[in-house]
Amino acid sequence: MGQAKIYYDSDADLGVLSNKKIVFLGFGNQGSAQAQNLRDSGIPNDQILIANRVDSYAETAKAKGFHVEHDFATAAEVADVLFILIPDQVQPRVFNEQFSPKLKSDATIVVASGYNVFFNLLKFQPGQDVVMVAPRMIGSSVRSLHQKGRGFPCFVSVEQNGTGKGLDAALALSRAIGATKQGAIASSVREETMMDLMAEQALWPNIIMMFREAFNVLKDAGCSDEALCYEMWMSKEPAEIFERAADDGFVAQLKHHSTVSQYGQLSGSLKLEGGAMREHFKDILYNQILSGKFCEAFSQIEDDLDKEGDTNPLNELYKRSEEMELVKAEKRVRARLAGLL
Ligand code: NAI
Repeated sequence: MGQAKIYYDSDADLGVLSNKKIVFLGFGNQGSAQAQNLRDSGIPNDQILIANRVDSYAETAKAKGFHVEHDFATAAEVADVLFILIPDQVQPRVFNEQFSPKLKSDATIVVASGYNVFFNLLKFQPGQDVVMVAPRMIGSSVRSLHQKGRGFPCFVSVEQNGTGKGLDAALALSRAIGATKQGAIASSVREETMMDLMAEQALWPNIIMMFREAFNVLKDAGCSDEALCYEMWMSKEPAEIFERAADDGFVAQLKHHSTVSQYGQLSGSLKLEGGAMREHFKDILYNQILSGKFCEAFSQIEDDLDKEGDTNPLNELYKRSEEMELVKAEKRVRARLAGLL
């Protein structure tokens, strides 16, 4: 694949949404931001319905003047457009059991992440449109950038074109939530899922491992906990480097570093051929992610993730991570410097 198509406001016709009932399932990070942006774009409040169980999110939606429906079957029946904006791991249960049987046969269903669609975990009818409008930002930024009159990066795709007008709907909805202002990038649930899961299962685990091992080696060589924690992350230098990479360029940001640093980083990285790492990454991409193996394994532990204590697999992983010398040292440093941080 080469260049992706980019859609702007001028590619989208908000008229496509006139008289359509737009239901947001969920009023959390993304739901609250997207629903408010959409209303600000001129979609009348009476066309918008927030489907939310009885909880604090529903109260927030009411306080912001939205119509809220607690009965999901009722919300499903009236929806011409349904944004699914509840956590990914609960979407299959809630959508398949409570929405899918009642939805109109030509409804447009919008997801903000590719996972459940890519792994076929949601049940759609053939006449429905299934589109992805996936902001690359946390909800609070989706909202605040829109309020400042700016856009935010977003992926858009049509995954099932039941009505034949899926793209028109996807672009109108993207524009309505403010996603085409800066340009929405044509993508797919496959691409979005691959990139997301690779970052989570390949790139960041290796970065964590590299920090852990660099920490161990330097500690063995006599460096103090305090010096290491500050040098490696608590000074926020890595955060600054990534910010510069986004602004100036992945490699161009190196120009802000000392000459010794630039020479060390460039010569060091070019010396590392990366073959073994490439094979390791390919193994994760093909044999763990695209094969569906991870998805299957994760589905089996999903219910346990709601449990309290050690029987929750995530808690168990956190507990094992606490054994890392880096984590133990950081705790000691934070306790000593409490009040100064
Ligand atoms: P969230 O965690 O903020 O969702 C909270 C909402 O889900 C609330 O309205 C709550 O009432 C509802 N909810 C939670 N559990 C429920 C259940 N068992 N039954 C019914 N309703 C339930 O969700 P978030 O983070 O906004 O994610 C929504 C979608 O947006 C996901 O697909 C996610 O991948 C995607 N996304 C999220 C981003 C973020 O900013 N966190 C960034 C880009 C995409």
